[in-house]
Amino acid sequence: EKGGYPNFMMKEIEEQPRAVADTLLGRTDANGHLVLDELRIDEAVLRSVDKIVVIACGTASYAGQVAKYAIEHWCRVPTEVELASEFRYRDPVVNEKTLVVAISQSGETMDTLMAVRHAREQGAKVVAICNTHGSTIPRESDAVIYTHAGPEIAVASTKAFLAQITACYLLGLYLAQLRGNKYEDEVRELLRLLAEVPDQIQQVLDGIEPVRALGREMASAKVVLFLGRHVGFPVALEGALKLKELAYIHAEGFAAGELKHGPIALIEEGLPVFVVVPSPRGRDSVHGKVVSNIQEIRARGARTIVIAEEGDDDVVPYADTIIRVPRTPTLLAPLVTTVPLQVFACELAMAKGLDVDQPRNLAKSVTVE
Ligand code: F6R
Repeated sequence: EKGGYPNFMMKEIEEQPRAVADTLLGRTDANGHLVLDELRIDEAVLRSVDKIVVIACGTASYAGQVAKYAIEHWCRVPTEVELASEFRYRDPVVNEKTLVVAISQSGETMDTLMAVRHAREQGAKVVAICNTHGSTIPRESDAVIYTHAGPEIAVASTKAFLAQITACYLLGLYLAQLRGNKYEDEVRELLRLLAEVPDQIQQVLDGIEPVRALGREMASAKVVLFLGRHVGFPVALEGALKLKELAYIHAEGFAAGELKHGPIALIEEGLPVFVVVPSPRGRDSVHGKVVSNIQEIRARGARTIVIAEEGDDDVVPYADTIIRVPRTPTLLAPLVTTVPLQVFACELAMAKGLDVDQPRNLAKSVTVE
């Protein structure tokens, strides 16, 4: 069943080009308009939405953080992301004009389900993004976009995460189209760029051997930090979570801009720090600022492991190790930059002799609050 892979996790990481491609499949109607899988909300209601709240747990919440950048940029609707377990118990301000987006691979996560119920009681409409057909969260929601990652067996989420991000982009483009923020040809162009991403993920996987070697080499690491900015920030958080879950290493993700507000105090000789570098292109690029961050931590002795786009030479002088990823539009980058971090965590955990498919203390589906 593992198809020649040492564990399900490696298999699922390798299946990611397919998971993203399948999630994008068949999303437009005869007129080229995006469609959701199930829609029990009046389109007029979706046009009048004045706030979006994304609720999810763990890895799914990081997909939600990526979604915030894309949805606000494309749709101009204020978007918050909140952990479902916090949302439910803080008396959140939601009403008929709020659209709640609940992201869940399993569709059975109790924290997320309770948050969905609470939001609907306040009159909000809920769109579920889910990988499991007919599970509880989509059944209790007003609309559904299914991710087509296929069954995810390994406890730690990999391909479902990339599929969730993909579905969030689709939702963002759907809303932008519906609400008239984007012209049809702009949406079509973004869909075309999105359709190129599976091949770009495959390119990352084809060149992954050095990342595996790095994982094996770092098997005795005690602490690893991850820095990212803009959509690279949730990627850093996900990289850290994978390392905690799989390899039981203390790992922390930070927003690169926050470094000087505290975390830089942690930097000492030899400390490994992954940096997810944003694209050097784009109008409001923070690329130069992140390159300065790499320079600052390296000057304090950090071992810098940099994930940067092909052709980005600015990072070369400050990187101890460079992991290259193909060029993508800025907002789509998490679909490629996440992959080396997953492989690194998996390989390191394997080198430690750990069971990567079933890490200690964890369950695939958390059905208690
Ligand atoms: C991390 C992981 C968890 C889940 C979280 C939500 O690798 O798997 O953090 O992402 O428990 O699960 P779902 O998406 O099923 O609601």
